[in-house]
Amino acid sequence: MCGIVGYNGLLDAKEILLKGLEKLEYRGYDSAGIALRTNEGITVFKEKGRIADLRKAVDDEVAAGIGIGHTRWATHGVPNRRNAHPHQSASGRFTLVHNGVIENYHLLQKTYLKGIPMQSDTDTEVIVQLVELFSNEEGLSTVEAFRKTLSLVHGSYALALLDNEDEETIYVAKNKSPLLVGVGENFNVVASDAMAMLQVTDQFIELHDKEVVLVRQGSVEISTLDGRTVERAPYTAELDMSDIEKGTYPHYMLKEMDEQPGVVRKIIQSYEEKGELAIDENILAALNKADRLYIIAAGTSYHAGLVGKEYFEKIARIPVEVHISSEFGYNMPLLSENPLFIFISQSGETADSRQVLVKVKELGYQALTITNVQGSTLSREADYTLLLHAGPEIAVASTKAYVAQIAVLALAAYVAGKARGNVIDFDLKQELAIAATAIETIVDSKDVMEEIAADYLKIARNAFFIGRNLDFCVSLEGALKLKEISYIQAEGFAGGELKHGTIALIEEGTPVFALVTQEQVALNIRGNVKEVVARGANACIIAMDGIQEDGDRLVIPHVHTLLTPLVSVVPLQLISYYAALHRRCDVDKPRNLAKSVTVE
Ligand code: M6R
Repeated sequence: MCGIVGYNGLLDAKEILLKGLEKLEYRGYDSAGIALRTNEGITVFKEKGRIADLRKAVDDEVAAGIGIGHTRWATHGVPNRRNAHPHQSASGRFTLVHNGVIENYHLLQKTYLKGIPMQSDTDTEVIVQLVELFSNEEGLSTVEAFRKTLSLVHGSYALALLDNEDEETIYVAKNKSPLLVGVGENFNVVASDAMAMLQVTDQFIELHDKEVVLVRQGSVEISTLDGRTVERAPYTAELDMSDIEKGTYPHYMLKEMDEQPGVVRKIIQSYEEKGELAIDENILAALNKADRLYIIAAGTSYHAGLVGKEYFEKIARIPVEVHISSEFGYNMPLLSENPLFIFISQSGETADSRQVLVKVKELGYQALTITNVQGSTLSREADYTLLLHAGPEIAVASTKAYVAQIAVLALAAYVAGKARGNVIDFDLKQELAIAATAIETIVDSKDVMEEIAADYLKIARNAFFIGRNLDFCVSLEGALKLKEISYIQAEGFAGGELKHGTIALIEEGTPVFALVTQEQVALNIRGNVKEVVARGANACIIAMDGIQEDGDRLVIPHVHTLLTPLVSVVPLQLISYYAALHRRCDVDKPRNLAKSVTVE
């Protein structure tokens, strides 16, 4: 979703901001803009569309050492130039970029800004107009007017503000939306995501909610909204540019699918102690103390959570509920006496999940976050974190993070189960290594997946994914992958459920992908395939070696029954990728979607 960058230093701010915005493109956006402080004052450039369009609009001659930039994913007001950020106050003195949603913007506008004509349809504009109002009418300094405005605002924000009358400062604040300050010699920067500023620094300072920061060339002053000074040391971001470049790949998604075997191996390494898989002993104690686990997540992470339930129940023997985060916070079920909440989130910034985390912390419960991003909001605000070690995932469609989530869930359940003395008749480390090799075999057979995509999906209007038990969980993920990047309407179903209604949609040639990896229900799912084929479906059976039959379209290597989701999802990811390519879709940046969904 929206992304923010800011630079205050001696170099060419314009180029640093544009490059920074390019690094934030993966988050999803529909317009972009920058504001530069030149000798003549603040100059704003903004455009609907891609950063490339903004680049064309920016005057090459403009030189500036201070500036702020923004990519916008429209929430209030259609995506157009007028609604693109930066926004300016009525006199043009203040210029602002914002990520988040101001929930009470309408009320603030009615209460304070009646006579001031609005220049956009956004919620953001009220902030910049209020700063000017309080500065003019109450004679407040900029930081005081900024603080007063923030004290009135309800909602989420990451903000960077320039004052035409202050040549030295970028005013910054955050609440619920991600924002970091990057530090360097003779410059300081601000960004929604460390990746945007890795070009100039790897030293970052975390910001907490309701903090106000004055970012100057030679200093960073952090304080709370009520004015108390905060000291916080920078940390080194464990990323380098090669992690976030595509290299020779045409798409990040393809690169990230190829990285999956390495991710599983990295997880084994990262969680190994004295030759055994291990997790932090406090996390282990929290898992084993809980009488029920509540897994909270959205999208692909929710699908990984469904697999996680199987692991915790079957291996660790702890009861589990899995909930969609956008539902849970506003319709909380009866909780057990001693719950532990597990948040699964690649980005660690998903606002729907965060609203639940805030509520469960208010209720005094413990929370564990499983995330790919160290220092992310969901990680910081939970009691414990397990990292996915998947490396940055840039493509909007999540692939390697899903595989990493499943591997880490298996690992946590396994370590908890062992600590409880449960009988576990397999060596997870060895089985994960086998799964990594199996994934490698599949990613090395891309030509087969491309053929399947052409045969089944080239002209399809819709598609179904069916499976039973763990295969059902993976079917949901397969359908999500296909619809989000190829725009083919797709649904995942429990194999036995189609006949209760949805089978009415099957007609001549409808593609049905059936997963057959669970031996105990293999005959049942094959029966379900016969039902759809009898009604004209074009069925593509993907079976695991050992339980395959003649006529199955794809046979994937044999792995431990519980670990099949790690492997069976990979052909579905690749088939979706090639289907999207056949349809000339923008694979890495599908329409209407954002990588990091930071609004509820
Ligand atoms: O960062 P998160 O894992 O919390 O994100 C949750 C969903 O927005 C995300 O998984 C989404 O469904 C992906 N685009 C799926 O590919």
